[in-house]
Amino acid sequence: MPETPVAEVRSLCKEYRITGENALFSRTFSAVRDVSFQIFPGETFGIVGESGCGKSTVARLLMCLEKPTKGEVYFRGERVDDLPEGRRRFLRPRFQMVFQDSGSSLNPRKRVLDILGEPMAYHGIAKGRQAEKRAEELLSMVGLNPEMKNRYPHEFSGGQRQRVCIAKALSLNPDLIVLDEPVSALDVSVQAQILNLLRALQEQMNLTYLFIGHGLGAVHYVSHRIAVMYMGQVVEAGPSDALFDHPAHPYTRALLDAAPSADIAQRGRSRISLRGEMDDHPPRDACPLYHRCPYAQEKCLSYRAETKPLPGQSAHITCCDRAWEG
Ligand SMILES: Nc1ncnc2c1ncn2[C@@H]1O[C@H](COP(=O)(O)OP(=O)(O)OP(=O)(O)O)[C@@H](O)[C@H]1O
Ligand SMILES: [Mg+2]
Repeated sequence: MPETPVAEVRSLCKEYRITGENALFSRTFSAVRDVSFQIFPGETFGIVGESGCGKSTVARLLMCLEKPTKGEVYFRGERVDDLPEGRRRFLRPRFQMVFQDSGSSLNPRKRVLDILGEPMAYHGIAKGRQAEKRAEELLSMVGLNPEMKNRYPHEFSGGQRQRVCIAKALSLNPDLIVLDEPVSALDVSVQAQILNLLRALQEQMNLTYLFIGHGLGAVHYVSHRIAVMYMGQVVEAGPSDALFDHPAHPYTRALLDAAPSADIAQRGRSRISLRGEMDDHPPRDACPLYHRCPYAQEKCLSYRAETKPLPGQSAHITCCDRAWEG
C-alpha cells in the first residue's frame, strides 16, 4: 500500500482582496494558484522561489492558519481545511514552525527554560522537573550547553537563537516542522552549521520538514524533493538532484545560475538570466514568465498552467513546453 503523506495540498488557491484608499477600486490578487504536493514521513520537501512568490502563504494554508480560497489540505490522509475551528485546534502542536527572524519568535522576557517548558506543560507533554530535564536534553540535541537554560534570548548569538527555535519546535514532538527561510538571516558559516544540524536531527529522529528558501543552494542541500514557485504557481517540481542537475524550466535555470557557484560551467550549459522583475505583469493568458524569459515565443502567450512529467521521469514535472521539445 502506498505510504500516507504527513501533509498534502491539492489544487490550493489563495486570493487576497486588495483595497486602496477608495474601496471602489479594490481588486483581488492571486497569491497562490493551483498548488499541489505531498510531504512524506522522514523527508524534506523544499519550496524555492523569489520574494513574494507565495511560499509563506502556501505554508500558512498547509498549517491551516488561513483558509484557502479553493483547494484542499490533508493531514495524515484526513481532510482538515474544512474542519470547524474547534476541531482544527488539534493540528496546532502537530505543525511547528521555525522562522527567519529568531529574535521575534522568542519572548524576550522569558528564560529559555520557560520558552521550552511552558508549551510542553500546556500540551501535557511534561511539567516541573520533568520538563526541565527535557529542556536540557533539547538544548544539547541542538548543540547548546544545557546550562544555557537560564539565559534570556538576547544573551544568545543569532545562530544560537535559531538553535533555541529548533529546540522549541522539537519540544512538542511535531509531525511536521515548517522551516521558513531559517538560515537567511545568518552569516554563511553559521548557515552551514544550522543546515547540518537540521539534517542530523532528521536522521536521528526521522523528522519531516517543509523547507522554504530563496536560493536553490541551501534548499537543494537539505531537501529530498523540491517545488519551484513563480508568481503563486509551481513551475517545476521533482527530486532534488534531478532538478538541480537537469533544470527543465527557464525560471529554475535562472535561479540556479543566479547562485554564486563555481561549478556552473561544469554543468555543460550556458548561463541564463531573466529580464526585469517579478512584478512585470505578463499579458493576460500568457505564461507568467513571458516578459522575462529569454526563450519566450508567440505560443507562450496562450499558456496552459499545467504541469506534466518530463519524458521517462514520472516524478520530475514542469509546465514549460520547452521541456518536451528537447
Ligand atoms: N494577508 C495578505 N493580504 C494581501 N496580500 C498578501 C497577504 N499575505 C500575502 N500577501 C501577498 O501575497 C504574495 C505572496 O506573499 P508570501 O508572503 O507568501 O511570499 P513569500 O514567497 O513568502 O515571500 P518572501 O520570500 O519575501 O517571504 C505577496 O505579494 C504578498 O504581498
Ligand atoms: Mg515568506
